[in-house]
Amino acid sequence: MGIQFRGWGTAVPDRIVSNEELSQTLDTTDEWIFERTGIRERRVGGSSSSLGALAAQRALEDAGVSAESIDYVVLATTTPDSLIPASAPLIAHALGITAPAFDVNAACSGFMYAVRIADGLAATGAKRILVIGAENLSRWTDWNDRTMAVLLGDGAGAAIIDSVEGPGDLLGFDLGSDGSLAHLLRCDHGGTIWMDGKEIFRRAVRIMVESAERAMAIAGISSDQLSLVIPHQANVRIIQAACQRLGVEAERSVVVLDRYGNTSSASIPLAVDDARQSQRLKDGDLVLMTGFGAGMTWASAVVRWSA
Ligand code: UT7
Repeated sequence: MGIQFRGWGTAVPDRIVSNEELSQTLDTTDEWIFERTGIRERRVGGSSSSLGALAAQRALEDAGVSAESIDYVVLATTTPDSLIPASAPLIAHALGITAPAFDVNAACSGFMYAVRIADGLAATGAKRILVIGAENLSRWTDWNDRTMAVLLGDGAGAAIIDSVEGPGDLLGFDLGSDGSLAHLLRCDHGGTIWMDGKEIFRRAVRIMVESAERAMAIAGISSDQLSLVIPHQANVRIIQAACQRLGVEAERSVVVLDRYGNTSSASIPLAVDDARQSQRLKDGDLVLMTGFGAGMTWASAVVRWSA
């Protein structure tokens, strides 16, 4: 058995916070933020469950399938509405789904982890899985800390994944973690998000490239065959450096962080949907999705795009 992406949907809060607005309360500038990160603005508001439910509803509509047909709901999030319960059952309930629903926390690799879980569920008989990446990072952001406040944003993306006979869309994947690097990006109970940005930057490029290469080797393809790279959206300089090392021109990568900042688990589905809406994806295209994040975790997948 394999899996096939049947539909996609996204949701972001209406409230736009520009670099200009942040520079009124923080010792920062639009130039610094844009030059160092590529971010122009981010969305702020909502909750992981409300954004996730809206993205999921849109994915169901896009796929043209009913909520009752969903066998599992897998939510990737680092920012569930509460510690208990998980947010996936809240999303399921909002959609009228009573199927199993659970959260996955693999930070910015979360969406790709959830896709891989869907692949495993399909292999054991699930017919249709709703996979969501949703984040409410603004709630855990110290808005007085210029090193973090400029980077993060809220949003959600969802995909309907069907089990199919044969290899399906997922041609190769690579997932991993290294808990010895847990101290580099943290948010303790009751605290706010903190990271050693420089150190993560240094490791992120190598981790993403090595993981992407392993996924491509499993898929039996080389980087020149890729139509598009859809990376986690942390920093445009990380994306450019990773693409350069993979031998992929920057034009073949998708960047949405200028509009949304770093939305962790939501960043890859937001970027997929953007590529789709702007007609950058054609039937049969080979696409690399790759991410890294707190843990540290990493995840890459080679997908054959089917319309
Ligand atoms: O989602 C996965 C996890 N996250 C990431 O992947 C993020 C990885 N890291 C990064 O993207 C970058 O390291 C940052 C964007 C976080 C920082 O960029 P940088 O080029 O590594 O800057 P830096 O930390 O070396 O800081 C340079 C200077 C420092 O001042 P001094 O020490 O040179 O005087 C900072 O204090 O910039 C200062 N700075 C700022 N200045 C204006 C730090 N943040 C700001 C700010 N505005 N917002």
